[in-house]
Amino acid sequence: MPEIKIAPSILSADFGHLARDVALAEAAGADWIHVDVMDGCFVPNLTIGPGVTRAVREATALPVDVHLMIEEPSRHIPAFVEAGADWVTVHVEACPHLHRVVAQIREVGARPGVALNPATSLESVRGILPYVDLLLVMTVNPGFGGQAFIANSPEKVREARGLVADSGRVGEIEIQVDGGIAPATAPAVVDAGATVLVAGSAVFSAPGGPAAAIPALAGAFGK
Ligand code: DX5
Ligand code: ZN
Repeated sequence: MPEIKIAPSILSADFGHLARDVALAEAAGADWIHVDVMDGCFVPNLTIGPGVTRAVREATALPVDVHLMIEEPSRHIPAFVEAGADWVTVHVEACPHLHRVVAQIREVGARPGVALNPATSLESVRGILPYVDLLLVMTVNPGFGGQAFIANSPEKVREARGLVADSGRVGEIEIQVDGGIAPATAPAVVDAGATVLVAGSAVFSAPGGPAAAIPALAGAFGK
């Protein structure tokens, strides 16, 4: 079984003490730090930009994983990479010229990922799999932290694993899940093939904070 990584989403952190919360997550065993960027257009919510991404970069040695839930991501990709993003994921629904955007992410020095909303078919990303290093299967509709996990998501993750196998890039493409991931939902997505688990509220809003929540999440799927 591949190493399963936990990527706490700072969307649910205390923005007044962001560096402290990132450090707590790192100390508790986080593998990546996930940064949710929303533009009030692709998704209804507005969150953060390159400035806060830089603050995260300065607060941790862990890979910084930027999830762009924005229209026209190519306008902003260089700024996020300049700010310290190691991974940049864009939504297939926001990119009519996805291959060009993925190439741009690599060119400016980050590893590219592609994300799909819950109602978007996996077929829409089959053609890009030779070029990306991460496939993000959204397990909620993007826009807000703390939403309920969509029940048939493990089935879609299993299908994603099949698609990655068809592409011949098993072990080269991370399968990430994002939304409603908690000790109760993690085992099913790990069993289905997820290799990177994003968790926001289950890490930062849990009693005891990241120090208790990250080991609890890891324990739930046997890490
Ligand atoms: C959803 C974001 C997620 C979100 C996850 O729009 O992409 O990363 O913060 O939050 P939880 O884990 O609380 O569902
Ligand atoms: Zn996210």
